Amino acid sequence: MRHAAVTGWGMSVPDRVLTNADLTRLVETSDEWIVSRTGIRERRIVGPDDSTTSLATAAAQQAINRAGLSADQLDLIIVATCTPDQFLVPEACLVQAELGGTAGAFDVGAACSGFVYALSTANQFIQAGVHDRILVIGVDTLTRFVDYTDRTTCILFGDGAGAVVLEATAEPRGLLSTVLGADGGGHKHLYIPGWGAVVPESADLFPEYRPYLQMNGNEVFRFAVRVMGDAAADAVERAGLSFSDIDMLIPHQANLRIIDAAARRLDLPRDRVWVNLDRYGNTSAASIPIAIVEAAAAGQLTEGNNLVLVAFGGGLTWAAGVLRWGTAGVCQDPDCRRAGAVTSPGQSAATIATEA
Ligand code: ACO
Repeated sequence: MRHAAVTGWGMSVPDRVLTNADLTRLVETSDEWIVSRTGIRERRIVGPDDSTTSLATAAAQQAINRAGLSADQLDLIIVATCTPDQFLVPEACLVQAELGGTAGAFDVGAACSGFVYALSTANQFIQAGVHDRILVIGVDTLTRFVDYTDRTTCILFGDGAGAVVLEATAEPRGLLSTVLGADGGGHKHLYIPGWGAVVPESADLFPEYRPYLQMNGNEVFRFAVRVMGDAAADAVERAGLSFSDIDMLIPHQANLRIIDAAARRLDLPRDRVWVNLDRYGNTSAASIPIAIVEAAAAGQLTEGNNLVLVAFGGGLTWAAGVLRWGTAGVCQDPDCRRAGAVTSPGQSAATIATEA
């Protein structure tokens, strides 16, 4: 059976840092309140020279380089984002214009769950034998839509991008299970009005109208605590594993209390949960790939490790999967990689496709 191993990874965050102390100068809040309610201490926010495209491209280039590929060897680019630089053009095409190549390119919109949705989409293309090499990017610049007079939302969000390259292998690597879900009725709890084809009347009345993210924090919190634990546990079961087989939980970084609840559900101690929201806040679709990159850089991910990825977000959506780390079975020989082969010599893509 074909699988989709992670062979490259990269991340990018803006240089500008917004600390809790900075926020106390904008709204009535305190470092103590923000840290105790969310775990966030600072976040990175885009400046005038940054964009969704610039962050995504930087993360993608790192991932491609680490995989030892060039952009023209990619079959597909999938970008998970709810903050594309433009609606028409797809964000994936803007990124491809920077990277080069002619890979198919499209976006996936599932808010903060978007990266896991995109990863599972890419996984299907590789498992089905349609494609061999896919770039998946999670990127968001939600601070462009944050009202910095609203203390209930402005404390939460940061910007960033993370990317992975997936390549075909005959070994069980990459996603071993996928759980995707949505409760569309909950769309009203987290949304950006007027960021789409339906423009509120107030936009005409007030030409300076700027769409800002609206959120019912308590509803989203209750939803997140419930679905994060359930989806993570479901992903482990669907992978045919038990909680004791899990080496690390890599959750969406929205709120430390939500992450702790998911970890308790999987019986995992804190040292097996990757947490970086203290430094980045909630970077939406970028949060899981950024966490993967940091965990790998810290030497915490080794061949064969089982990681649980789990996210929730606007929609309301949720997504989870067990990802087995490592590149076993992926062709490492530079000559065969240059030639476009996906497996070691003697083991053709067709062989993998017919093995079951
Ligand atoms: N500083 C100080 N006080 C505040 C602040 C603030 N920044 N924000 C709210 N408060 C006040 C409230 O006004 C309220 O005061 P009151 O009791 O006098 O009415 C009090 O603090 C408690 O407010 P709650 O909203 O009940 O606080 P809670 O503990 O629920 O924390 C929070 C709020 C952090 C927003 C939490 O509900 C949460 O994390 N929800 C999930 C949000 C989330 O993750 N959204 C992202 C989704 S992912 C995506 O797709 C983008």
